[in-house]
Amino acid sequence: MPSTSNQNRFEQQDAEEIRPHPVLASYHQNEEERKQGVQEYFDRSARHYDWINQIMSFGSGHWYRRQALRRTGLKPGDRYLDVACGTGVLTHHGSRFAGTQGLALGLDPSQGMLRQASQKGLPHLLQGRAEFLPFADDSFSVLTMGYALRHVTDLRRTFAEYRRVLSPNGRILILEITPPKSKLGFVALKVYLRFWVPMVARLGGGRDAQTLMKYYWDTIEHCVNPETIQNALREAGFRSVGRRRTLGVFSEYLAVK
Ligand SMILES: C[S@@+](CC[C@H](N)C(=O)[O-])C[C@H]1O[C@@H](n2cnc3c(N)ncnc32)[C@H](O)[C@@H]1O
Repeated sequence: MPSTSNQNRFEQQDAEEIRPHPVLASYHQNEEERKQGVQEYFDRSARHYDWINQIMSFGSGHWYRRQALRRTGLKPGDRYLDVACGTGVLTHHGSRFAGTQGLALGLDPSQGMLRQASQKGLPHLLQGRAEFLPFADDSFSVLTMGYALRHVTDLRRTFAEYRRVLSPNGRILILEITPPKSKLGFVALKVYLRFWVPMVARLGGGRDAQTLMKYYWDTIEHCVNPETIQNALREAGFRSVGRRRTLGVFSEYLAVK
């Protein structure tokens, strides 16, 4: 388990940026390599992402995302942005909530993931990154990011962008996995996500899918703690910042502009 002092030391290295996790030396040598590498992992494994995700979540992945999205209050006529949309699961549910009078737009840097999303019949998909959103100020009423906060370069920059593109009273929802606090829970989840899931991914999707799933856990394990994320949201100017936990593992960060 990463120690708090390690995390603090890491965060103090650069007072300007808050990186979600340090560059992990067993995968990448520096930040530029990390950014490129992450995009390649997702590009190469995009066609396997949905089935791995469904197996990993015991079939509850779509259901859980839909429930979490419902809690944002997304409604017909709203303009909804799904950052890091991946294969478009949240975007798909968001388009149902926003209806034909509204808009549901998915954004992701990986062409491979966007290709999978387009196969779900989603008409509004765009290539881009959370840190540089290609939208005017006050464009959206709801913004989500599912299981991707660990991949951005800087939480400060990302949250400033989220605030900028949201309209007043706009809401954000960030879904993440948080390692359990208990030692037993931590070890159980690590065995599951670091060894069992990558093994299944390897059998069904090959070595790239296995690497992606190992990286999935390693970034969870080294991610900054929930307080750092919530503080960064407050510092960016969000109010009503809260975290809802399910099963001690699934974190939903909700905040209002
Ligand atoms: C684990 S997938 C999550 C996909 C989807 N949100 C879901 O709930 O299943 C992470 C996604 O984050 C994207 N991503 C990586 N770096 C990003 C960045 N800087 N900005 C936005 N998306 C990013 C990846 O391309 C990938 O599609």
